[in-house]
Amino acid sequence: MKLNTLRSTYTDGLEFFGKLSPYELAAKYGTPLYIYNEKILRERCRDLLALSDHPGFAVNYSVKANANLALLRIIRSEGLIADSMSPGEVYIAMQAGFSADQILYVCNNVSGEEMRYPLERGILVSVDSLRQLEELGKVNRGGKAVVRFNPGIGAGHHKKVITAGAETKFGIGAGDIPEMQDILARYEMKLAGVNQHIGSLFLDPQGYLDAVDVLLDLARAFLPDLELIDFGGGFGIPYQKYAGQARLDLTGMAREFDARIKAFSRETGYRGRFLIEPGRYISAECGLLLGAVHNTKNNGNIRFVGTDLGFNTLMRPVLYGSFHDIEIYREGAGPDNNLMPQTLVGNICESGDILAKDRELPEMQVGDLVAALDAGAYGYVMSSSYNQRLRPAEVLIDEKGDDILIRRRETLEDLLHLTPINI
Ligand code: LLP
Repeated sequence: MKLNTLRSTYTDGLEFFGKLSPYELAAKYGTPLYIYNEKILRERCRDLLALSDHPGFAVNYSVKANANLALLRIIRSEGLIADSMSPGEVYIAMQAGFSADQILYVCNNVSGEEMRYPLERGILVSVDSLRQLEELGKVNRGGKAVVRFNPGIGAGHHKKVITAGAETKFGIGAGDIPEMQDILARYEMKLAGVNQHIGSLFLDPQGYLDAVDVLLDLARAFLPDLELIDFGGGFGIPYQKYAGQARLDLTGMAREFDARIKAFSRETGYRGRFLIEPGRYISAECGLLLGAVHNTKNNGNIRFVGTDLGFNTLMRPVLYGSFHDIEIYREGAGPDNNLMPQTLVGNICESGDILAKDRELPEMQVGDLVAALDAGAYGYVMSSSYNQRLRPAEVLIDEKGDDILIRRRETLEDLLHLTPINI
């Protein structure tokens, strides 16, 4: 449906909302509301599956980006497997139908006790320090281990999400290999896999491809035991939609990536799996967060637009200074090219509760609906009930354009569901 409203050309082009308009969806489910589009989710899965036709290639979706059960089922139906990093993510992945051999447990700083959870279900565990390998040995003597390496190359949109290189807590270095071998021998464990993850959100594939080379080089030392080589995630998406930001060139990347893994198999006779581990690329663009404008005011030179999209609903802008494009819907209004700088804020009791700062947008009014685009990854999963606000509902627009509630909004009672009332 074409809305003919203040700012919606991006979602118009995709028929994002299906059969209903954002006004109807807001009236039916309330705001704030996470809305996901199934068609886009499936397309993103297929984009990445096309990176290689090598029989061992698999796309290991990082459940941490979005763990909604309905989305996980769609992702599974596209033939992806799952990267889980906590018992909770294993539990939900299994509820979504992923089998033990379709899940990899990539953990960090956990107890041996916690490792039992995936192990007892037959799931491979990846550890990322020598000490954690010992811990794994104690609960998995004679079993398999996967070890996460730090390839020395990091990438990411913010230093908080760069997960390799000198300044991170993740992975073991090449210098640790002799000790790693000792630990493996001591606990009679077999090194079944090597993995890495250089960071989150690259739009230039070169760093990733360089890190692929580093891991493949390293993997040679552990053949023929290896069953999987996992290069990690980090595939970026263009958040600056309205500025026409370019997409990651996956076709170019596919050529390079596919050639590397095929050459490796040819040269070494390796018959195991090659994994990539994307989260954001799969789920970010299929989701947006719909909210309502409840207030406008001018403080000095700044025009504030007060919405119900506090950082309890979408934390990325506050945590990383992340950019999410904003759409504005006003029933009956035409497009407005008269732009003015406005700062969108939420309803949380903190001055830092800013969703979008100094954005050149059409003048917003009370009653408008707004959407933060590309909110399908690290959106709902990082939401909270801070200020005792209720977590939003989640709705899926299926391939026919019908809307389906896939998580209800929290209720006031939910706020106390863990607390005995008579304490
Ligand atoms: N594999 C491992 C081991 C990871 O730690 C991560 C993300 C991924 C895969 C998936 O990364 P992706 O493809 O989504 O970039 N909350 C931040 C992102 C943190 C990512 C943490 N690890 C954000 O909102 O930007």
